[in-house]
Amino acid sequence: MKIAVVIYSYTGNSFSIGQKIVRYLQNKNQDAHLIRVDVADDQPSKTDIQLGEIESIASFDRVIFGSPVRAFSLAPAMVKYLQQVESLKGKTVSCFVTKQLPFLWTGGTSALNKMVSLCKEKGALIDKTVIINWSYKDRDQKVDDFIKSL
Ligand SMILES: Cc1cc2nc3c(=O)[nH]c(=O)nc-3n(C[C@H](O)[C@H](O)[C@H](O)COP(=O)(O)O)c2cc1C
Repeated sequence: MKIAVVIYSYTGNSFSIGQKIVRYLQNKNQDAHLIRVDVADDQPSKTDIQLGEIESIASFDRVIFGSPVRAFSLAPAMVKYLQQVESLKGKTVSCFVTKQLPFLWTGGTSALNKMVSLCKEKGALIDKTVIINWSYKDRDQKVDDFIKSL
């Protein structure tokens, strides 16, 4: 079983979770690969996103997507990536988003719902999902629980 962990991250929070997931899975002898979504001239305020080369995930059986929340929704780079990525038909997909502001209504639920619906449009079977609030004390525990559930 090949597992891709595909992360868009600007300041590194989501990417650090991706690294943790891959380390955990590899320690369990799983064939896990970390892929970072490449954005040309990435800037937080930019909405006209140009993606770099999109690495094929066709050969992976499971995919875990991670992204930050941006302006109360899913980061535009991840939206663009999920619109452009090849079919996810037959793949089991888990999703997480990271955020900073308190409460779920400050973009967490909306971003995660958007991610899940874009994955479903590509034919994915949705497995685990989680919203990680970077400013909450339970952050590390929540990350660990998510990773162990995978
Ligand atoms: C331009 C911008 C907009 C953001 N908008 C939100 C938001 O609407 N809600 C929220 O909870 N966090 C928001 N954040 C905080 C990020 O989602 C949070 O810091 C996230 O963990 C960053 O992930 P990254 O380090 O992987 O890029 C925003 C950050 C930036 C830079």
